[in-house]
This record gives sequence, C-alpha cells and structure tokens, in this order.
Amino acid sequence: HDHLITSKQLSRADIETVLDHAADIAADPSAVADRHAGTLLGLLFFEPSTRTKMSFETAMKRLGGDVVDMGSIESSSVKKGETLADTVRVIEGYADAIVLRHPKQGSATMASEFVDVPLLNAGDGAGHHPTQTLLDLYTIRENAGLDDLTIGIMGDLKYGRTVHSLAHALTNFDTRQHFVSPESLRLPREVVYDLHQQQDGTGIREHESLEDILPSLDVLYVTRIQRERFPDENEYQTVAGEYQIDVETLEAASDDLTVMHPLPRVDEIAPEIDQTDHAAYFEQAHNGVPVRMALLDLLLSDDGTAGPDGTDDTS
Ligand code: CP
Repeated sequence: HDHLITSKQLSRADIETVLDHAADIAADPSAVADRHAGTLLGLLFFEPSTRTKMSFETAMKRLGGDVVDMGSIESSSVKKGETLADTVRVIEGYADAIVLRHPKQGSATMASEFVDVPLLNAGDGAGHHPTQTLLDLYTIRENAGLDDLTIGIMGDLKYGRTVHSLAHALTNFDTRQHFVSPESLRLPREVVYDLHQQQDGTGIREHESLEDILPSLDVLYVTRIQRERFPDENEYQTVAGEYQIDVETLEAASDDLTVMHPLPRVDEIAPEIDQTDHAAYFEQAHNGVPVRMALLDLLLSDDGTAGPDGTDDTS
C-alpha cells in the first residue's frame, strides 16, 4: 500500500497530480461528496494539533466518509504503556487508512512497517510533515507560481519539520531557496546534503539575516521556534523572539510578496500583517481541506486513480 512518510517520495508528477485534483475539488466539492461513503480514517495524534487533525477529519467527512479518533494519550491505552507498533496494528483493523502524528523522528517509518493500510505521516518529531508540504505547494502555486520562484524560509530550520519537507519538495521545481535562521537553528547538515544531491547547489543559500534577500523574494515562509523540541529551555530563551516580522519589515519587500506560515504562530508575524495583501497563512490553513481531500481520494480509490474520470462511476 501507499504510505506517505516524507516529501522525498513525491516526484514532480505526483505533486502536480495531487494539486490539480485539489484545484478541481476546490472548484466543485460536490463532485466528490459521496465518493468515499463508508470509508473510515483512523486518527492517531500523540502530539497536539488543530489544523492537521481537523482538516483531515473535515476532508474525510466531505468525501462522505468518517473518522475514528484515538483521542488523547491520557484517555487511550498508550497511557498503560502500549507500544506504537501494537497501537497501529490494532487501528488498521478498524480503519481504511491511518494518520499518525508522533513526537519521535522516524516513528512514521517504523509504524508503516507494521500495517498494510496507507499510513500518512502527519508529523514525526523534527522529521517530516509531507501533507503540510502539499498544501504549502498548493498555496505557493496559487499565489506566486512554482516555477522561477524565489523563496525565503525563515525561523527554526533545525527542528521545523514543515521546512524539511517543503525544502525537499521544492527541489522538483525551478526555485531558489534562501534559508534564514540563527546559527544554532540552521538546517540539519544531512538535510542540506540531501538538497544538494537533488538540486544544483546554486539553488540553496543560508543566511543569518533577512535584510539582504527580502527584496528579491516572491514568498517568505515564516516558522515558529519549536520550543517543545529544545532539550534545554535556556537554549530556547536565547533564540526566542528572533526573526519576527511586522509591517515595517515588509517595507523593503516586493508589493507582490506572499507571506506564509504553517501556523500556529506565536509572535513571528505581527497581527497587523494579517490585514495586508501579503498575508496568505489563513488561506494556506484552509487549503488543507481540498488538498487532503485530493490525497485521500487518490489513495483510497480502488485503482489508484481519481478525478472526473476516476473510479466513481456508480453514481
Ligand atoms: N500546521 C500544522 O501542522 O498545524 P497543527 O499543529 O495545528 O496541526
């Protein structure tokens, strides 16, 4: 079965298939409203989530299906010490696909080895978050286009799993990626190595300041400092509050700059930016629904095809 663990699995053609299907669904959601009646999606969230969990639930229900949700760790048998491997083996007997978020990097890969139903990684520690990447790419395509793109990715590049997934996926397109962070939160060296393997190194640059590159950007992707991943709170305090942007910061930017953020934000983007034409982060969060509908439809359709000429010829 098709598991989705990292964005490295996705070719340009795969990405375009999902994004094109998502655009069709966004234009006419009624066309797929009953396509997956009776299908159940298992939700296993070992870490907090608002957007990912609720947009997967919305997506499955808007396709005519439903969800079974383990709920919190506190209310589940994880509390009694059940392993992740045992938990997913049980849930695959209840659900047609599983969405997993877990604090441990690599957990989704491990869990996928124990199940036959599709397992979708909704975030594994500081690892990957590939379905976020698909909605990020959809949002970039709508606002700036995915070719001849100059993007700045700023904030916590060390622990930010949305960044790791997005950076890999963008190497499929004609992009220049500028990574902006404090020295201590640079991209992990293995991620940089991988990016260089996938794309001519001239497409990738690292910076400590936004100032020099801001005027050249089509998209600025801002991220939260991932406080929960720091082994030491003091280390977090040394970087907290850095790399915030406000309306004054954006005076140096192009009028067409699109500002994105996977959310939740803490203080990285001043609320005054919300009212400007730059802000795309709420639209980005909303795009999670058609994009996850498209992904689920493609994964759960019997012959792996979907769309207007896909499997649903029974209606
Ligand atoms: N962007 C994102 O993953 O948000 P949640 O943590 O709320 O799911």
